[in-house]
Amino acid sequence: MKKILITGGAGFIGSHVVRRFVQKYPAYQIYNLDALTYAGNLENITDIEQAPNYTFIKGDITAESFINHLFEQHQFDGVIHLAAESHVDRSIEDPLAFVKTNVIGTMHLLNAAKKQWEGKEATKRFYHISTDEVYGSLGAEGLFTETTPYDPNSPYSASKASSDHFVRAYGETYGLPYVITNCSNNYGPNHFPEKLIPLFINNIINNKALPVYGNGKYTRDWLFVEDHAVAIDLVFHEGKNHQTYNIGGFNEWQNIDLVKLLCQIMDVKLGRVPGTSEALITYVKDRPGHDLRYAIDASKINKELGWKPSVTFEQGLDRTVDWYLANETWLKNVTSGEYAKYYEKQYE
Ligand code: NAD
Ligand code: DAU
Repeated sequence: MKKILITGGAGFIGSHVVRRFVQKYPAYQIYNLDALTYAGNLENITDIEQAPNYTFIKGDITAESFINHLFEQHQFDGVIHLAAESHVDRSIEDPLAFVKTNVIGTMHLLNAAKKQWEGKEATKRFYHISTDEVYGSLGAEGLFTETTPYDPNSPYSASKASSDHFVRAYGETYGLPYVITNCSNNYGPNHFPEKLIPLFINNIINNKALPVYGNGKYTRDWLFVEDHAVAIDLVFHEGKNHQTYNIGGFNEWQNIDLVKLLCQIMDVKLGRVPGTSEALITYVKDRPGHDLRYAIDASKINKELGWKPSVTFEQGLDRTVDWYLANETWLKNVTSGEYAKYYEKQYE
């Protein structure tokens, strides 16, 4: 019996990771710790909530004594840490919130793990989920490798870079057994509609403007979320201690080309005249500090652990659009209330 703490398991990627672990490893006890911020939603995981090997804990990783108590009480064997403030635009408005959760929250988890695991390091693992944004921005050429120097440009990526450094420092200084992965842009079901793909799907459904930042010629490397969950499973079980692995989709798209492809798919799915959705594209003011291009060299995880994406972008986008069309109530629930206020401030 292994006890695994997964943080942020009610969010986008975390919900896919929790589902995979609960279903694939009945002998593990999976504890999902999530503060249920605007981005956390238990509706993402209703299908596994009754599973005997699953426990949900509502709690905040920034609450130090609560975290210490939790680790004392449960004696976890492993931690998969996904809880974070994750949206770049929000980090520009409120950087401190990102320091609190992404840096201080991670510190509390590290301290609790260090304390409880002293002398038992050989059987433990702290897995920190990070992002390719820590490497900064690429020009037209090149790929991020595991040895690319950190060069974060947004408060979000600076907070993630900081937490990566602390995880590594705890490994070097205290012998904490850790792995880190830095992944490219995910997409898929349950993605909160403040991020490009789900935001634009929702706006197309509602015939609202599609706000493309700047000239739209920014490039991202897209990975289907379930393929990320597979990679996380593999790294958790087979990754080497004190190592970093880059995870990417081998799938670069300029924003404007991706948006046009999405518009075409949506016109077909919604039975609209071709070109209807594209007419909603509106160029708006650019994101400050907008990184030009991210692209991952995922050859290390491919060679060492045999991982590669299983879903093509066409298949993944098709599944994603179908999921949003079948889950309009989910979309309505998450876009009402607080999110409506955020949207108005950000775009109108
Ligand atoms: P998300 O915003 O969808 O979910 C974050 C989850 O963390 C939510 O359930 C939220 O309630 C929870 N949370 C936030 N603050 C918390 C706190 N103080 N205490 C406890 N729980 C808290 O994020 P996501 O897109 O699923 O990203 C998950 C992780 O993966 C993050 O660490 C992010 O940096 C990383 N990542 C994301 C992407 C991507 O494309 N989305 C790519 C690479 C890495
Ligand atoms: O690269 C991994 C990162 O990908 C993760 O670490 C982050 O948590 C995740 O949010 C994502 O960051 P991005 O900033 O790349 O994702 P976002 O969906 O916000 O934006 C994707 C691109 O689309 C980016 O170039 C900005 C642009 N964009 C975004 C929004 C929300 C627009 O043009 N218009 C928009 O309204």
